[in-house]
Amino acid sequence: MAVKLAPSILAADFTRLEAHAREALDAGADWLQVDVMDGHFVPNISFGTAAVDALQRLRRERGVVVDVHLMVERPERYLGAFARAGADVLTVHVEATAHVHRAVQEIKGLGVRAGVALNPATPISAVEEVLPDLDLVLVMSVNPGFGGQAFIPRSTDKVRRLRKAMDEAGSGAHLQVDGGVSPSNAPDLVRAGADVLVAGSAVFEGDVRANVEAFRRVLDEKT
Ligand code: DX5
Repeated sequence: MAVKLAPSILAADFTRLEAHAREALDAGADWLQVDVMDGHFVPNISFGTAAVDALQRLRRERGVVVDVHLMVERPERYLGAFARAGADVLTVHVEATAHVHRAVQEIKGLGVRAGVALNPATPISAVEEVLPDLDLVLVMSVNPGFGGQAFIPRSTDKVRRLRKAMDEAGSGAHLQVDGGVSPSNAPDLVRAGADVLVAGSAVFEGDVRANVEAFRRVLDEKT
């Protein structure tokens, strides 16, 4: 499966968000990730549906997947709004609602691909019962809330164990990793079984074209 790079716009220049995101896509990025933070589930507040709205011209023009990562308490309150704003993927945290199965069913009922995210301390067993219904499982390799954090090394082994569980369950879902991802740790993550990599600072800090090309070099040779 071709590995996809999903730049996180949390690290983009908000004075020129569309142009900065376009630079990443022009250089070879595949998806765009929108990190929604409510200041409760995570200590930071980022943005809401306005950020998804801001990417709709690119989405129409380029067919780019707009991947919304809801780091919010009780995300079921916002699924319809983000679906209407133009999310292609909606990912909820298994720790953020008592009703993960219902949230996944609602996302799919909205015609959007459904993802579930696991914080670093959450075991992969937490997604076992909903795995057959998922289009994506997200392994957080930092504690969510901020970009620019250090990658948690044992995340690679968690990816390996999750990939094994997904293969045994016959799941065709994407296995996404997010947090501190860079061209140096990307090859190990891909070998462990990740097929979508989220990167914020490693894409948007500095020369975007050079940053994305550095990812492409290691991702394309590994696939
Ligand atoms: C963290 C976010 C990540 C973050 C990634 O809570 O979910 O998507 O923006 O940023 P980097 O790649 O800089 O760790």
